[in-house]
Amino acid sequence: PRSVETADVAGKRVLVRADLNVPLADGRVADDTRIRAARPTLRWLLDHGAAEVAVCSHLGRPQSDADRTRFAMAPVAERLRSLLPDGRVRVLENTRFDPRETANDPGFARELARGMDVYVNDAFGSAHRAHSSTEAVAHLLPAYAGFLLLDELEHLGRLLGEVERPFVLVAGGAKVDDKLAVLENLGGRADAVLIGGKMAEQVRVANPLSFPVELPLDVVAASSFDADAETQVVDVDAVPDGWLGLDIGPRTARVFAAAVRGARTIFWNGPMGVFEWERFAAGTRAVAEAVADADAYSVVGGGDSVRAIQELGLADRVSWVSTGGGASLELLAGVELPGVAAIPEA
Ligand code: 3PG
Repeated sequence: PRSVETADVAGKRVLVRADLNVPLADGRVADDTRIRAARPTLRWLLDHGAAEVAVCSHLGRPQSDADRTRFAMAPVAERLRSLLPDGRVRVLENTRFDPRETANDPGFARELARGMDVYVNDAFGSAHRAHSSTEAVAHLLPAYAGFLLLDELEHLGRLLGEVERPFVLVAGGAKVDDKLAVLENLGGRADAVLIGGKMAEQVRVANPLSFPVELPLDVVAASSFDADAETQVVDVDAVPDGWLGLDIGPRTARVFAAAVRGARTIFWNGPMGVFEWERFAAGTRAVAEAVADADAYSVVGGGDSVRAIQELGLADRVSWVSTGGGASLELLAGVELPGVAAIPEA
């Protein structure tokens, strides 16, 4: 896709689609990696004389009217504005508050484009979604790719070429349905596929994958979904009735970490457990440390695993921290990303 650097933006009103879908906790931004990652493109537009920069993004997956408070853009907008003090920047409300967004409705795209001269897509994390703000709108205005989108394509692209082996893929997290289909395409390219988190349970019940995967041997089981629940380490097939596996167990953590440490290429997407709660954080921490220690080209993607690696202070020891979760998986699976395809080539 053609770079924003080739656009003439002086005096223009620019619509930017960023991926500001950040983890929230108690109504506050829990990790601002994606907000900071949006900055270079916005800074460039301002420095090159854009008259106005309207930034739009989705936040969460709002379902009902009640979610309008929970997923309002305000805390994200506030953080972005404090990073770029400049009156020309305006942050639009959550694009998913309009149900036409996810339908890739051209009418909603026309509303977003109204009054704008140029469109810049920098939302790598949303590039796998054909939505009004990522796809339809790109056909209504001269469209360009932002710096983050281009950097992501370059770094993740490295995993698509000839990689040094072993290539170890670690997957976890909660967006199970989205990820399984992609893993199916990706897994064949990796030498080992380690699955933890909620995803592992699903694969254990009915494995839809056609290649060998390593699943947890043991888990940290909790009496209820609670930070202070009673816990015990049990074999994966010995979780007491009504209890929940909220982290991989220590034996699994050792096996996974050893495989990761021996890798020359690593892609990690999704935490191994509910790492926000200290008692279920050890598995994710073990994987994160192994990724950081490995003498490998290592890429971490997905909001929650990125948050984990940031919180542990290990981000500097990873080759590339991707802002894309599902998007990075789809790219690696060789799927064309609609948000990228809609931008003309250079
Ligand atoms: C992500 O967090 O992976 C992206 O922002 C896309 O979010 P979505 O899976 O809700 O479309």
